[in-house]
Amino acid sequence: MKNKISIKVLDRDGIYHILNIPTDMSLNLMEACKAYNIPVEGICGGMALCASCQCYIISSHDLVEKTDDEDAMLSEAFNVKKNSRLGCQINITKDLNGLEIQLAPQE
Ligand code: FES
Repeated sequence: MKNKISIKVLDRDGIYHILNIPTDMSLNLMEACKAYNIPVEGICGGMALCASCQCYIISSHDLVEKTDDEDAMLSEAFNVKKNSRLGCQINITKDLNGLEIQLAPQE
Protein backbone atom coordinates (compact mmCIF):
# COMPACT_ATOMS: atom_id res chain seq x y z
CA MET A 1 0.00 0.00 0.00
CA LYS A 2 1.29 3.41 -0.93
CA ASN A 3 2.31 5.61 1.98
CA LYS A 4 1.50 2.90 4.48
CA ILE A 5 3.68 0.46 6.31
CA SER A 6 2.90 -2.68 8.19
CA ILE A 7 4.02 -3.18 11.79
CA LYS A 8 3.54 -6.29 13.91
CA VAL A 9 2.84 -5.79 17.60
CA LEU A 10 2.76 -8.52 20.25
CA ASP A 11 0.56 -7.36 23.10
CA ARG A 12 0.76 -8.33 26.79
CA ASP A 13 -1.73 -11.18 26.28
CA GLY A 14 0.49 -12.81 23.67
CA ILE A 15 -1.71 -11.70 20.76
CA TYR A 16 -0.22 -10.35 17.55
CA HIS A 17 -1.69 -7.31 15.84
CA ILE A 18 -0.85 -6.11 12.35
CA LEU A 19 -0.96 -2.34 12.07
CA ASN A 20 -1.15 -0.57 8.72
CA ILE A 21 0.13 2.88 9.45
CA PRO A 22 0.35 5.91 7.17
CA THR A 23 3.85 7.36 6.81
CA ASP A 24 2.66 10.85 5.94
CA MET A 25 0.87 11.80 9.16
CA SER A 26 3.86 12.43 11.44
CA LEU A 27 2.84 9.65 13.77
CA ASN A 28 5.14 7.94 16.20
CA LEU A 29 4.98 4.31 17.28
CA MET A 30 3.10 5.09 20.50
CA GLU A 31 0.43 7.01 18.59
CA ALA A 32 0.19 4.29 15.95
CA CYS A 33 -0.54 1.70 18.66
CA LYS A 34 -3.13 3.93 20.28
CA ALA A 35 -4.83 4.42 16.91
CA TYR A 36 -5.37 0.66 16.88
CA ASN A 37 -6.56 0.57 20.50
CA ILE A 38 -3.51 -1.37 21.56
CA PRO A 39 -3.04 -0.71 25.28
CA VAL A 40 -0.12 1.69 25.23
CA GLU A 41 -0.76 4.46 27.69
CA GLY A 42 1.47 7.28 26.53
CA ILE A 43 0.82 9.18 29.75
CA CYS A 44 3.26 12.03 29.07
CA GLY A 45 1.98 12.55 25.56
CA GLY A 46 5.24 11.61 23.88
CA MET A 47 7.74 13.69 25.85
CA ALA A 48 10.00 10.78 26.86
CA LEU A 49 8.98 11.36 30.48
CA CYS A 50 6.89 8.36 31.50
CA ALA A 51 8.09 5.13 29.80
CA SER A 52 4.49 3.91 29.56
CA CYS A 53 5.14 3.47 25.82
CA GLN A 54 8.12 1.18 26.34
CA CYS A 55 8.39 -1.65 23.85
CA TYR A 56 10.94 -4.25 22.85
CA ILE A 57 12.18 -4.20 19.28
CA ILE A 58 12.08 -7.75 17.94
CA SER A 59 13.04 -7.24 14.31
CA SER A 60 16.47 -6.03 13.26
CA HIS A 61 15.53 -2.67 11.81
CA ASP A 62 17.95 0.22 12.00
CA LEU A 63 16.21 2.72 14.23
CA VAL A 64 17.00 6.32 15.03
CA GLU A 65 19.56 6.69 17.80
CA LYS A 66 18.21 7.23 21.28
CA THR A 67 18.22 10.82 22.43
CA ASP A 68 19.67 11.69 25.83
CA ASP A 69 16.11 12.10 27.10
CA GLU A 70 15.11 8.63 25.97
CA ASP A 71 18.27 7.13 27.43
CA ALA A 72 17.66 8.86 30.75
CA MET A 73 14.03 7.70 30.94
CA LEU A 74 14.92 4.11 30.10
CA SER A 75 17.64 4.10 32.74
CA GLU A 76 14.93 4.75 35.36
CA ALA A 77 12.15 2.58 33.95
CA PHE A 78 11.23 -0.98 34.98
CA ASN A 79 11.54 -4.11 32.85
CA VAL A 80 14.13 -2.50 30.60
CA LYS A 81 15.98 -4.80 28.22
CA LYS A 82 18.73 -4.24 25.69
CA ASN A 83 16.15 -3.86 22.94
CA SER A 84 13.89 -1.49 24.87
CA ARG A 85 12.80 1.71 23.19
CA LEU A 86 10.22 4.38 23.92
CA GLY A 87 7.58 4.11 21.22
CA CYS A 88 6.92 7.83 21.30
CA GLN A 89 10.47 8.56 20.23
CA ILE A 90 10.28 6.49 17.06
CA ASN A 91 8.65 8.26 14.16
CA ILE A 92 6.82 6.21 11.59
CA THR A 93 8.79 6.21 8.35
CA LYS A 94 8.90 3.99 5.28
CA ASP A 95 12.04 2.33 6.65
CA LEU A 96 10.02 0.80 9.47
CA ASN A 97 7.97 -1.40 7.17
CA GLY A 98 7.89 -4.90 8.66
CA LEU A 99 8.95 -3.72 12.12
CA GLU A 100 8.08 -6.16 14.88
CA ILE A 101 7.73 -5.08 18.49
CA GLN A 102 6.50 -6.43 21.80
CA LEU A 103 4.84 -4.29 24.45
CA ALA A 104 6.78 -4.09 27.71
CA PRO A 105 4.82 -5.07 30.85
CA GLN A 106 2.89 -2.32 32.53
CA GLU A 107 4.65 -0.98 35.60
FE1 FES B 1 5.72 8.98 27.76
FE2 FES B 1 6.62 7.79 25.57
S1 FES B 1 4.63 8.47 25.99
S2 FES B 1 7.71 8.29 27.36
